[in-house]
Amino acid sequence: LVSGLTADSPLLNQYRGGLSAAGEPARPQRRPVWFQRQAGRSLPEYRKLREGTTMLDSCLKPEMASEITLQPVRRHDVDAAIFFSDIVIPLRLAGIDVEIEPGVGPVLGSPVRTPADVAALPQIDDEAFAPIVEAVQRTVAELATLGPEGSAVPLIGFAGAPFTLAAYMVEGRPSRDHMGPRAMMHTDPETWHALAAWAAEASGRFMAAQLRAGASAAQLFDSWAGSLGREDYQRHVLEHSAAALGHVAGLGAPLVHFGTGTSEILDLMKSAGADVVGIDYRLNLAEATRRLGAETPLQGNINPALLTADWPVLEAHVREVVAAGSGAAGHVLNLGHGVPPETDPQVLTRVVELIHSIAYDDAA
Ligand code: CP3
Repeated sequence: LVSGLTADSPLLNQYRGGLSAAGEPARPQRRPVWFQRQAGRSLPEYRKLREGTTMLDSCLKPEMASEITLQPVRRHDVDAAIFFSDIVIPLRLAGIDVEIEPGVGPVLGSPVRTPADVAALPQIDDEAFAPIVEAVQRTVAELATLGPEGSAVPLIGFAGAPFTLAAYMVEGRPSRDHMGPRAMMHTDPETWHALAAWAAEASGRFMAAQLRAGASAAQLFDSWAGSLGREDYQRHVLEHSAAALGHVAGLGAPLVHFGTGTSEILDLMKSAGADVVGIDYRLNLAEATRRLGAETPLQGNINPALLTADWPVLEAHVREVVAAGSGAAGHVLNLGHGVPPETDPQVLTRVVELIHSIAYDDAA
C-alpha cells in the first residue's frame, strides 16, 4: 500500500535502520531532516494563505491543506513533508464542537468528563475522512518530483496519541498540568479507559486514512505524556497508544512515536509498537541510544531555543546532535519540539543546508 515512489528515500531508509524497502543495507545518501511544525506561522506565505480562514477550516479544504504542506518543502528543501492538519481534526470530523483558538490551542464547546459524556461520544464514519484523503492524494502527487534531481519527497502522516488527545477533551482546553485526565485514570478508571479507547480509535483511523491515501510514514504525537510517571503510563496509557499504532501496523509504513519530557518512558513508548522514537531536546541522543538499544532508529533533537542563537552557536549544536545520533541504526534530524512561530525561516533553510553538507563519513 505504501507509495512505491518514495520507497527508497534517504528519510525512509533511516527510519528502517539503514535498510532499503527490500530490506537490504541502503547506502546513505544525504542526511535527512524535517522539522515538527515546519508548516505554519514561521512562514509568511502560510500567514498570507491562511488569512480569513480558521485553522481547522483550512485543514478541511484539500487544496489549501495541500499547498500549506508543500510550502516548507519548496522553501527549505527538507527531506519530508508533514501533512498539514491537527490532532483534533478527528474530533471535528466526528461532529464534536472544537476550535483552535489563536494563541491558545484546542478548545471544546463542552469538556468530556463523566461516564455519560464518554458514552455519548459519536462514532466517526470513514466517509468523514474524505477531505483528508483528497488533501493527501493531491500532496503526494505534487511531492512526486519535488526532491533532489526530480525525486519524490515522502509525506509523513500523523495523529495525536490517546493521552494527549484525551487531555484536551477532559480539560476542554490547553492546560499546563493535565490534572483532569491524570486524576480520572485513578478515580474513574473505567471512564478513563473508555475515553482513551475512543481517542485511540479516532487517531488510529485518522492515520490509516492518511497512509491509505499515499503517506509513506506516520508519527504519533504524545506531546503531554511527559506529565505522567512511568506507572501511570504503563497502567493507563500504553495499551491505548499501542491500539492507535496497531491500526496502521500492517500497512508497511515506518511509525514514529514522539513526546516531550518522556526521557524516562522511552522504552515503553517503543514497546507500544513504534519503529522509530522521537527524542525531545532534553536528552542527549547517545543516552537515548543507551536506553533504547543501537538497533532503534532515532529522530531529533535540535534545541528549538538555539534557533535564535548566533550562527556559530547553532552550527556547533547541530554538529553535536549529528555526532550524538551516529550510534543509532538510523537517525533523522529534527527539532526537539516544534518550530517556534517567531523563527526566522532563513535560519531553518541554513540548518537544512548544514545537515545536508555533513557527509556520513565525517560523523564523529
Ligand atoms: O508542520 C506541521 O507540523 C504541521 C502540522 C501540525 C499542526 N499541528 C498544525 C498547527 C501538527 C503535526 C500538529 C500537531 C499538534 N497539534 C500537536 C502535537 C505536536 C506538538 O506541537 O506538541 C498538538 C499538541 C496540537 C494542538 C494544537 N494545535 C496547539 C497546541 C496549537 C497552537 C495554538 C497556538 O495558536 O499557539 C494548535 C494550532 C496549530 N496546529 C497551528 C498549526 C500550524 C497554529 C495555527 C495558526 O496558524 O494560528
